[in-house]
Amino acid sequence: MRVLGIETSCDETGVAVFDSRCGVLAQALHTQVDLHAVYGGVVPELASRDHIRLLPVLIRQTLRETGLDVADLDAVAYTAGPGLAGALLVGASVAEAMAMSAGIPALPIHHLEGHLLSPLLSDDPPAFPFVALLVSGGHTQLMRVADVGDYELLGETLDDAAGEAFDKTAKILGLGYPGGPQLAALASRGEAGRFKLPRPMLRSGDFDFSFSGLKTAVLNVVSSPDWRPEYQANLAADFQQAVVDVLTAKTMAALEHTGMRALVVAGGVGANRALRAGLDAAVARIGARVHYPAPELCTDNGVMIAFAGAQRLVRGELPPADLAIRVRPRWPLAELIRPAD
Ligand code: KG4
Ligand code: ZN
Repeated sequence: MRVLGIETSCDETGVAVFDSRCGVLAQALHTQVDLHAVYGGVVPELASRDHIRLLPVLIRQTLRETGLDVADLDAVAYTAGPGLAGALLVGASVAEAMAMSAGIPALPIHHLEGHLLSPLLSDDPPAFPFVALLVSGGHTQLMRVADVGDYELLGETLDDAAGEAFDKTAKILGLGYPGGPQLAALASRGEAGRFKLPRPMLRSGDFDFSFSGLKTAVLNVVSSPDWRPEYQANLAADFQQAVVDVLTAKTMAALEHTGMRALVVAGGVGANRALRAGLDAAVARIGARVHYPAPELCTDNGVMIAFAGAQRLVRGELPPADLAIRVRPRWPLAELIRPAD
């Protein structure tokens, strides 16, 4: 099965062709970071327009690299949600039109399913079932993953996502967009433990998170009369450590609760080195294993969408046979239907 994957849910235009026998045949990725940087965050209308500008170019480029024609594909998979409505519509319209013209199915894919299945592309993939920690700019969730399409939400953030907390805190500290990687770089030059930042919901007894109070705690520190700019790296390190402590503790509790011994970490924040170090150490202590996607698959990309589409296609899933173009800007992962066995 050969599937073309299209990702346009936010600020990355991603295209890839995945072959269920040979793996990734080609891929192309364009990030809009420079476009949005001057505004300090993603501007939805600009994101949509840039997807329109580049998606056809990247599709042509990817297909040329594989030497394939649209007619050689078995399906076109696209991110149908969650994400920015206008941005999603660009990918959905192009995918549906391409698929219709070639007489092949267009598969609507859940963005987070793409993220959480992406470690299966590694040389040493996890076996089902596993616990997944999804930590992106828009989501922070702990899921029990029994199989492709069989997801149970264990807990999630009640307010800001982990990536959002990184981005907002970076803004408070005067760092540029996207804040997560810049805050992490600053934190690596600091020492955690100087400021008494909270560990929100650490002992709540469930698998939910809350990060907005942490960002406010940082704001209070920098607004205090004792604040000095030279404390910045230490404060960044403290913030990062607080996020890592909560994510690690809740993830370990989820592993214990489910009795599972495999953990998958996916989403942009999964690239954070301190988080990886915290999870690696904690997971090793209980003799479990943690799987990360390859670094280039941690942030948004077309490969994970093509792969998720192929997984659903080989399991016999076919999309609704109508001409509707559907996107779901809000779409709970647990609502996904398991493809037929
Ligand atoms: O999964 P992703 O690429 O896009 C979404 O689906 O949201 O995640 C992007 C998020 C952003 O909030 C970004 O700041 C954060 O991941 N991020 C990081 C790091 N790299 C990306 N956060 C902390 N440390 C990092 N190294
Ligand atoms: Zn994402």
